[in-house]
Amino acid sequence: MRTPSDPWHFARPELAGGYLQAFDLGLVSARGLFARRRMGKSEFLKHDLLPAAEAAGYLAAYTNLWDDADHPGQAIATAILSAARPKGLAQFWEDLSTPIRKMKAGGKLPLGVEGSLELDLADKEKLAVPAIQAALQAADKTRKRLILMIDEAQVLAAPEHRQVAHSLRAGLDIRKASVKVLFAGSSEAALREMFSRASAPFYNWAPVEPFPLLGDAFVSATVAQVKRLAKQPLALADARQAFLSLKETPEFFRWYIERYLLYQGQGPELALQHTLARVHDDSGHAKAWKAMNRSDRAVLLLAARGVQDLYGAAALTQLRELMGSGDVTASVPRSALRRLTGPKMQAMARVDHGLYRFEDPEFEAWVRSRRTID
Ligand SMILES: Nc1ncnc2c1ncn2[C@@H]1O[C@H](COP(=O)(O)OP(=O)(O)OP(=O)(O)O)[C@@H](O)[C@H]1O
Ligand SMILES: [Mg+2]
Repeated sequence: MRTPSDPWHFARPELAGGYLQAFDLGLVSARGLFARRRMGKSEFLKHDLLPAAEAAGYLAAYTNLWDDADHPGQAIATAILSAARPKGLAQFWEDLSTPIRKMKAGGKLPLGVEGSLELDLADKEKLAVPAIQAALQAADKTRKRLILMIDEAQVLAAPEHRQVAHSLRAGLDIRKASVKVLFAGSSEAALREMFSRASAPFYNWAPVEPFPLLGDAFVSATVAQVKRLAKQPLALADARQAFLSLKETPEFFRWYIERYLLYQGQGPELALQHTLARVHDDSGHAKAWKAMNRSDRAVLLLAARGVQDLYGAAALTQLRELMGSGDVTASVPRSALRRLTGPKMQAMARVDHGLYRFEDPEFEAWVRSRRTID
């Protein structure tokens, strides 16, 4: 199930060992970690802590709630269950959902809906509370301890996920010795808020602390790897300088290394210039995005995700979801597209009826990587 290992991954075994040891000592059973975006939280959880935990005899479950922010409950249940019982996931949901299926089949449904006995995601999310309980019970049965890593955990703090949050806490509180939880997120404020509001389900659950950042050892290891692979070695001093200029951000540093390797003839200075421009472009996109209104962003996001008919019924449903509003009619995408294709923005161009393309593929890729319209 593991993806092939990335030769550029800088392993952090001491850091992983430190977290495991703290859990082993039993002083804490949950911790909250924060660091700015692109600093390596997810990479550490997935590629360092998860394998280290498994090697130490834990079951290890990882989930990133941003992958599907509307359905955190099923993401958590599925993650726990795949760690505890990698086979039989489909059957698990099947069994849990039998009562709902029966209800759907037996009750009077509006014309045309009879066929849709398939469980949709919203149905599944209603099952999240029993699903989390059942998944934790499956973990109990293995008699192994479980480490549960919840990335972008702040999603759980939203009011609509209160029930899931409460049931998760209840399930974990009675398993403090056997289940350890790591919450991660990129907003310190959001994480702190989650654990400090007295009325919230997470109150006082986990101490919130900074995630240790990558530094000189990461830069040196990357330089050593360049030396192994490239004709033209990269001087450590140049790499250090670049890391600093790129605000010590591992993701940007990887862009720099990539550029350096592809255009070795151009040297480290030009690679850095190019990377700084790319980082800047990235924030240019952010500026353009911020200046747009919500419906324009929602339409752009659908287009970037490859939705073809932007006026169609399916698109309207998705727009309602993205915008969190029931009253979205076809006039919403119509006027959004008029603005987006207009001379002021020139973000999109019309190809055919209802079919549009981005003017700038870089911006399209940037929009595609958004999870929400915020
Ligand atoms: N240990 C590492 N070794 C090599 N590269 C790394 C490492 N950690 C992070 N990176 C680089 O930085 C990128 C961003 O890391 P990651 O996605 O883990 O950040 P994050 O803190 O989870 O950010 P976000 O808050 O945006 O989710 C990775 O895709 C990778 O290119
Ligand atoms: Mg992340």
